[in-house]
Amino acid sequence: MPGIPAPSASWPFPELGLQVAMAEAVFEHRISEPGDFAAAGIPMPEDLVEAVPMRRAAHLAGRVCAREALRAAGAGESLVGRDRSGAPVWPAGFRGSITHAGRTAAAAAIRAAACRGIGLDYEIVMTGAAAEEISDLVLRPADRRGIASLAGTSFEEGATLVFSLKESLYKAISPSLGGFTGFEDAELAWIGGGRARLRLVRRLSDALPDGTEMDCVYALSGDLVRTLAVFA
Ligand SMILES: CC(C)(COP(=O)(O)OP(=O)(O)OC[C@H]1O[C@@H](n2cnc3c(N)ncnc32)[C@H](O)[C@@H]1OP(=O)(O)O)[C@@H](O)C(=O)NCCC(=O)NCCS
Repeated sequence: MPGIPAPSASWPFPELGLQVAMAEAVFEHRISEPGDFAAAGIPMPEDLVEAVPMRRAAHLAGRVCAREALRAAGAGESLVGRDRSGAPVWPAGFRGSITHAGRTAAAAAIRAAACRGIGLDYEIVMTGAAAEEISDLVLRPADRRGIASLAGTSFEEGATLVFSLKESLYKAISPSLGGFTGFEDAELAWIGGGRARLRLVRRLSDALPDGTEMDCVYALSGDLVRTLAVFA
């Protein structure tokens, strides 16, 4: 399939002790037409028909990665659906997560019995101005202390990392949420060496009491931040 991204198996993180399958692909924005979706065997969602080509290409690349991750996790040939909110709907018996940043798309998949949810998020490192702009919204005092403790990591990298960790957390817990949540609802319990733990600072639902902690892994490579959160 010329132009359709060919995902490769990927594990950029420290060992997690869970059988998570991941696939990652670099894509081009021109792979965005209905014929490209048809060639890849991926349905184009109606709400993306009018979207800019880069958004359609990112969706297609993410879905191709999700199919590959599911295959590697043992799901066979299966597609990921999409609910009205845009959240992915995983085949019975599996959980997963999809992300795209810049021209990189990735997906993770795991057997449902292994955990209650996983979240994968990639972000391009923010500029200094953007990091300052989001910091009051995203960073709690514990997050700022965590960032400051990371030797050799700039504030922009650290702020992007915490932002991404919280996006991953949101993706992991989204099906178990009782209502609204925001970035101020979680903070770093600790971080270092490619591992982090996020703690909820208020109750979000019966399944997510105040104080719930979740293990995360992360990797910084060039201008790309990769994070994965597990809701055990
Ligand atoms: C939905 C959201 C997580 C997407 O993240 P993003 O960084 O903007 O974009 P990404 O490329 O990483 O991820 C996009 C993918 O997330 C997936 N996604 C969308 N909604 C989702 C949800 N509710 N739950 C899990 N995954 C979701 C989709 O697969 C989407 O790709 P697709 O539409 O092409 O299929 C983000 O827009 C959001 O709402 N964040 C809220 C974070 C928050 O409140 N955190 C507080 C907790 S501490």
